[in-house]
Amino acid sequence: MRAIITGVGHYVPDNILTNQDLEKMVDTNDEWIISRTGIKERRILDKDKGTSYIAAKAAKSVLEQTNTAADELDLIIVATSTPNMLVPSTAAFVQNELNATNCWGFDINAACAGFIYALATAAQFIETGKHNKIMVIGADKMSAIINYEDRNTCLIFGDGGGAVLLEPSNEEDKLGVEDYIFHLEGSGAKYLNMPAGGSLFPASHETVDKKMHYVFQDGKKIFKYAVTEMSDVSIKIMEKNRLTGKDIKLLIPHQANLRIINAVAKKMGLTHDQVMINIEKYGNTTAGTIPIAMSEAYEKKMMSKGDWIIISTFGAGFTSGSLLLKWALD
Ligand code: COA
Repeated sequence: MRAIITGVGHYVPDNILTNQDLEKMVDTNDEWIISRTGIKERRILDKDKGTSYIAAKAAKSVLEQTNTAADELDLIIVATSTPNMLVPSTAAFVQNELNATNCWGFDINAACAGFIYALATAAQFIETGKHNKIMVIGADKMSAIINYEDRNTCLIFGDGGGAVLLEPSNEEDKLGVEDYIFHLEGSGAKYLNMPAGGSLFPASHETVDKKMHYVFQDGKKIFKYAVTEMSDVSIKIMEKNRLTGKDIKLLIPHQANLRIINAVAKKMGLTHDQVMINIEKYGNTTAGTIPIAMSEAYEKKMMSKGDWIIISTFGAGFTSGSLLLKWALD
């Protein structure tokens, strides 16, 4: 039994934050942001809504697309670093919003690698024959944890998310999730984190005064790690499966920085039209980037049934990973 993606959708909020808007907020400029990151604008969710709003919207679009009733779902997995609350899971909010009455669910916190970690996790439940319909969601409301006075971070991140439906298949041409290579390197935790709000530094006047509820990053360290790690895992998964750049229809990379994406694609031997890029519109939506990019690539008909797709990512942890799949939709 193999796990195949039978539907994919996404949701981004309407509200747009442009580079020109940011010029009025911090000492930066449009040209610098575009040349260093490739980002032109990002989406911002209303203050009174949580990540589950994005997640449920994306999931509903997949249910509609696949003609699936919410009560057919066996499991909901939400990858996010910005849960509505620490307890309960964001999956609980999504289950309630969808009225998915026959399922269980949980969250995965693996930052920007969250969606593919969730996808691989869900694939196990399908491959063992345990479940038939799993909604895998990657969504983040990064604006909730970004300091819009910090030019180091505020220009990079945005809000949004996407979802896929995973189902079993035993077609002869072996579609679906083929392989994955994942890494976790905890020594990287100090370079990208949100220090307070957890059990180590619970919220206090001091944590608020010290701005510890916002994302901190050492951009240069992350950049270096991302290019090396993302290229390594992407090349390894090709070698392990005896594929070369020519065999890959599409790379769907985590959208963190256009220079990182281009460096990885070059090392993999891919041409520009083999890479899905939409970072200019949304920035880095953390667990959201990959399902959003997959959904837009599907809308643009950038892949067909039987094509090899590689999904590659890196993120806080440090996490990194590459997942190889044979596209199952027409
Ligand atoms: N606007 C304008 N100028 C800026 C700026 C900003 N937002 N930030 C820094 N600068 C200036 C600096 O002062 C410096 O000027 P100088 O050369 O005159 O000293 C110059 O631009 C270069 O600064 P630096 O900090 O070296 O920038 P960088 O090339 O490393 O780019 C990032 C910064 C954050 C864009 C880049 O490091 C990055 O994208 N890293 C990865 C982050 C990431 O992906 N995080 C999420 C992981 S999932």
